[in-house]
Amino acid sequence: MAELLLALDVKGREEAARVALACEGELDAIKIGYPLVLSTGLGIVKELAKANIPIIADFKVADIPNTNALICEEVFAAGCSGIITHAFCGSDSLLAIVDGAHDHGGSAFVVCEMSHPGALDFLSGANAERMAKMAKESGADGIIAPATRPDRTAVLRSVIGGSMKIYSPGVGAQGAQPEDVKKYVDGIIVGRAIYESADPGKAAHEFRVRAL
Ligand code: C5P
Repeated sequence: MAELLLALDVKGREEAARVALACEGELDAIKIGYPLVLSTGLGIVKELAKANIPIIADFKVADIPNTNALICEEVFAAGCSGIITHAFCGSDSLLAIVDGAHDHGGSAFVVCEMSHPGALDFLSGANAERMAKMAKESGADGIIAPATRPDRTAVLRSVIGGSMKIYSPGVGAQGAQPEDVKKYVDGIIVGRAIYESADPGKAAHEFRVRAL
């Protein structure tokens, strides 16, 4: 049984509120990222948090430890409950995110393998497994692994064990189905297949049921 996380990659407050309202009661968390935050500002977090579900900031952070810690301060002060970071900057940068999240009572999730075809250039295979191992050693709360390559997500699950979460993007517009991956993961991440749907609430409901 997997949770449903909405990737709310829309632009502007009105569109974000429209989709979030339509999906009320169907979601376990909302993932926000650059498209929404650059078009509205971080104040959007407080507005979305009214729905009383966790907001996860997908900023795929990739910087030096000091900058990562400063990014954490802003993300959690804005009301987010989780942050998504890259791992390829190394263990010190990763630890700054994990500690920054935990210091603020939040969670840290680590991108290990991406869901798009270009991920195969760098963000996959042995590199992904090393990053998953590092994520576990860092004390991170979970990793991000691709629904588009369920066999790889199964491998990453075996690297991290059962105590960390896996959230898995790629369901819907990128071609994966909830059934492909739900047995390996704690949550599926769905963006366009919900927010571009004529009826986002109905689409979210259907994904939620299929993820059970
Ligand atoms: O619209 P779609 O369902 O493809 O959205 C997928 C979401 O998951 C996007 O926000 C994308 O940035 C994110 N993501 C991903 N692959 C990763 C990590 C995050 O697609 N490995």
